[in-house]
Amino acid sequence: MDDYSIKGNHGHVPVMRDRMAALLADHVGEMGDRAVIVDATLGAGGHAEHFLTVFPEARVIGLDRDENALRDAGERLARFGDRFLGVKTRFDGLAEVLAAGEGEILDLARKEGISGALFDLGVSSMQLDQVERGFAYRTDAPLDMRMDATQGITAADILNTYSHGDIARVLKTYGDERFAGKIASAVLREREKEPFTTSARLVELLYDTIPAATRRTGGHPAKRTFQALRVEVNRELESLTNVLPQITDALNVGGRAVFMSYQSHEDKLVKRFFTELTTSKTPPGLPVDLPGTAPRFRQVTRGAETASEAEIEENPRAAPVKVRAIERIAENSEN
Ligand SMILES: C[S@@+](CC[C@H](N)C(=O)[O-])C[C@H]1O[C@@H](n2cnc3c(N)ncnc32)[C@H](O)[C@@H]1O
Repeated sequence: MDDYSIKGNHGHVPVMRDRMAALLADHVGEMGDRAVIVDATLGAGGHAEHFLTVFPEARVIGLDRDENALRDAGERLARFGDRFLGVKTRFDGLAEVLAAGEGEILDLARKEGISGALFDLGVSSMQLDQVERGFAYRTDAPLDMRMDATQGITAADILNTYSHGDIARVLKTYGDERFAGKIASAVLREREKEPFTTSARLVELLYDTIPAATRRTGGHPAKRTFQALRVEVNRELESLTNVLPQITDALNVGGRAVFMSYQSHEDKLVKRFFTELTTSKTPPGLPVDLPGTAPRFRQVTRGAETASEAEIEENPRAAPVKVRAIERIAENSEN
């Protein structure tokens, strides 16, 4: 393990760190000091630090909606000087940042396009460790779960104000919760007595509502509900849907975008979008692509890549990851 990777507050090695660099290496290397990489989920800055180290000429734009993450990562990456720029935004603000943001790195990005991009989706271990933010269900904490603690609704707001149908939909769609309807009914009953404020009451309700017999197979009874509330609070699938065309539009020829998904919903969105981008628009049956219909992208990964057994043993957070990468092979105006 390199020395720099174990330093810092949240010092473990980021998920599939070396593979992420390998996926970007050829083109970023070729681009030399014209290479701009977008790390759209900066977090603790682990991947960004690795990119800045192994690609000594490249610049990195790091995005995060969490200002604590930006501050900590900014300190960690300060030694790279003007090769790094941190921007606080939801990542689907990317097109706007690229169009109107100020600074040398953004000027370079506008001139050369983006040579590499990484989306390491979801919450960071740093966020999970900050008990007061309410992401973890094992400790009693405010039901907040906002990655950007300065705006938007909290998990408590959802539980206290959504209709029965909407709570059930959120739990079913984003948590694959079999007992979504039952849980929604219990939430509505409980909130009549007193609004929800902290997590322990919700966890207790889940223990009471989910049949004990299903717990053996389903993991902790709060896991799916907490995941679903987090996805809803942070509009996670909405920002992913929005950013897919933004980042692929911004790639230069040879540039790659890599997505690390930890939930099947995320991976499905990425997979569907990649399939669309890499499929010819020529009607089936014709021997050659009609002008303007050939795909301008190719899939780099075959199916989804996963972390090695050894990495999962070392870092269980890597277990669910599914990695897909896409590469631009032609300009929008070509063929
Ligand atoms: C899994 S962590 C990234 C860890 C990072 N790769 C590292 O090496 O430290 C995900 C980070 O992305 C941020 N994030 C998640 N969804 C986001 C979104 N839609 N817009 C902006 N930031 C987001 C979270 O706040 C969190 O800090």
